[in-house]
Amino acid sequence: SDTLRAHAEARGKFIGTAVATSPLANESAYRTIAASEFNQITAENAMKWDATEPSQNQFTFSGADQIMAFAEANDQQVHGHTLVWHSQTPSWVQNLGADAMRSAMQNHIARVAGRYASNPVLKSWDVVNEVFEENGSMRNSFWYQKLGDSYIADAFRYARAADPDAELCINDYNVEGINAKSTAMYNLVRTLKAQGVPIDCVGLQSHLAIQYGFPGQVQENIQRFADLGVNVRITEIDIRMQMPRDATKDATQATYYTNMVKACLAVTRCTGITIWGFTDKYSWVPDTFSGQGAALIYDENYGRKPAYTAVHDALAGG
Ligand code: G3I
Repeated sequence: SDTLRAHAEARGKFIGTAVATSPLANESAYRTIAASEFNQITAENAMKWDATEPSQNQFTFSGADQIMAFAEANDQQVHGHTLVWHSQTPSWVQNLGADAMRSAMQNHIARVAGRYASNPVLKSWDVVNEVFEENGSMRNSFWYQKLGDSYIADAFRYARAADPDAELCINDYNVEGINAKSTAMYNLVRTLKAQGVPIDCVGLQSHLAIQYGFPGQVQENIQRFADLGVNVRITEIDIRMQMPRDATKDATQATYYTNMVKACLAVTRCTGITIWGFTDKYSWVPDTFSGQGAALIYDENYGRKPAYTAVHDALAGG
């Protein structure tokens, strides 16, 4: 067939989308496209700490299980997002002392990653998310303040113990091209590997904006991580613009999607591309960047945009 997923499969890659639990439950058009066009999904919010452990040791998996069931029904792989992050983490975690915080992290990882460890649909986890500042120093999060950078290696070790088969990733934004932040990530991954820390993969979120230009040396950046012996994935791509849309902006956006997909296709260890949603009807962008939007490959009425064709043709081509 002529779907994105069929072409990606033929290339040995995944093409995925983030999914939100509410439209997944309530809208058949949303379900149909998510199932037919993508062979990988990521929970946009449902596997985060505030969703899975809102109170200490009180775990709630309704949203996470809903997403797993959808993936099982549609022969899709799931990327778990995310075990340790400074955002969407309840205040009870943030208020713990150092030893209790480390124990809570271990317990959270054991319970959340452990729940799906025997399920072959769950292929990978973002173990730590967004641990860097833009200048490449460690993000001054509550994790770092209480535990120092040791929390990163600990999180990977706990995750390996909880799910020995999952691909374990570090994930961040503004690390698509070669820059201070991606170089800091490169140095951290190299150090962790040298220390025997179980890290398997690097996630490049790829929240781009046409007005900021396309990042430099994306393929070279992917390749340098691959050369460290880890896989790379494009985990959250969307490409926003100043509203309103017009044909010129759509064309620029389509070119950016083409460039990212081709950069991944060009590197064997780049395993695939996840788009952060698929329809402009549901996107985090307008809520966060006032006046911006239209970042995805379908419009708000589920019509295909030039960006859809760009992704399709890049996956289908040669
Ligand atoms: O669930 C509550 C709901 O009960 C409440 O009524 C409503 C009112 O605001 O808020 C709902 O929570 C929102 C949640 O999404 C679920 O819809 C939060 O306010 C909102 O802040 C949250 O936004 C998410 C954001 O992460 C939070 O950091 C976005 O949907 C999600 O797309 C975004 O995803 C992140 C990745 O996880 C990490 N990388 C960056 C990416 C974009 O910011």
